[in-house]
Amino acid sequence: MHAVIARDRAAGAAGLGVSDIPRPHAAENDVIVRVHAAGFTPGELDWPSTWTDRAGRDRTPSVPGHELSGVVTELGYGTTGLTIGQRVFGLADWARDGSLAEYTAVEARNLAPLPADIDHTVAAALPISGLTAWQGLFDHAHLKAGQTILIHGAAGGVGSIAVQLAHELGARVIGTGRAAGRDTALGLGADEFVDLERDRLETAGEVDVVFDGSSRKSGPYGRSQRRALRSPPTGESREKRLSGSPRTDDRREQRAVAGTVAAVGCRGAVTCWPRARRPG
Ligand SMILES: NC(=O)c1ccc[n+]([C@@H]2O[C@H](COP(=O)([O-])OP(=O)(O)OC[C@H]3O[C@@H](n4cnc5c(N)ncnc54)[C@H](OP(=O)(O)O)[C@@H]3O)[C@@H](O)[C@H]2O)c1
Repeated sequence: MHAVIARDRAAGAAGLGVSDIPRPHAAENDVIVRVHAAGFTPGELDWPSTWTDRAGRDRTPSVPGHELSGVVTELGYGTTGLTIGQRVFGLADWARDGSLAEYTAVEARNLAPLPADIDHTVAAALPISGLTAWQGLFDHAHLKAGQTILIHGAAGGVGSIAVQLAHELGARVIGTGRAAGRDTALGLGADEFVDLERDRLETAGEVDVVFDGSSRKSGPYGRSQRRALRSPPTGESREKRLSGSPRTDDRREQRAVAGTVAAVGCRGAVTCWPRARRPG
């Protein structure tokens, strides 16, 4: 089968090429998926798991890409709940050959059924950013209907999904970002938008949860916004970290003064399972 192959860590994206490699076998608990669409994040070429297996052994040439959408062609021993011919989408293991190939082997638990009215290309764009938003909102911040959430980077990849999920849950959503993101955030369900280059963050008032989906630690938004939010008087001040990325620290300090803070900024400590439960 044809697959994109990564051989040379030092070469980065320029070292990627297309090769003919054997089709994967379905090991225990695996499903073989005929890939119709795949997602690739350039950053994964820096992840150790792209180059070595869990035991630290060289696994090059490796197939990058972890997000996928396609059709089940083979079921390994021990798989349940999926059938051959079924449309599925999900997330391939970080330390195994991935989705930039005609076929890929994925553990059944990392796949979910794909509704007939959703395109493969749309589905393949969802798993990592969607699960990051989901886990931040529900597994870590425990967002509830009726609460108010401030979402930084509300028009960005993770933030825009967080806005939609929080809105659908019934939370009051205040998005932040630059002016160019206002219409996007409001269109996706934000109730208010704070332009951090022009507006004062204090106008957001008290919030129950801060979700930091921004991508920068400093810059035009400035440090004047530091400590602009105050916890509700009865609110427990808790910090929920999704990652250990030092890049998030300044941002959190700048705005981590509400009830619960969920910061996204590093994939390392985030575990993503497509079958994460819905809240409540
Ligand atoms: N995408 C993923 O799947 C994923 C997964 C795990 C973790 N993460 C992490 O999540 C963070 C966001 O990633 P992303 O892919 O969503 O990035 P993105 O698409 O670039 O979105 C970031 C958003 O934050 C805005 N922003 C930048 N600085 C800000 C600030 N100081 N205050 C408020 N908003 C600000 C940006 O606005 P402008 O464009 O106007 O600057 C942009 O709309 C990153 O730290 C990333 O490493 C992402």
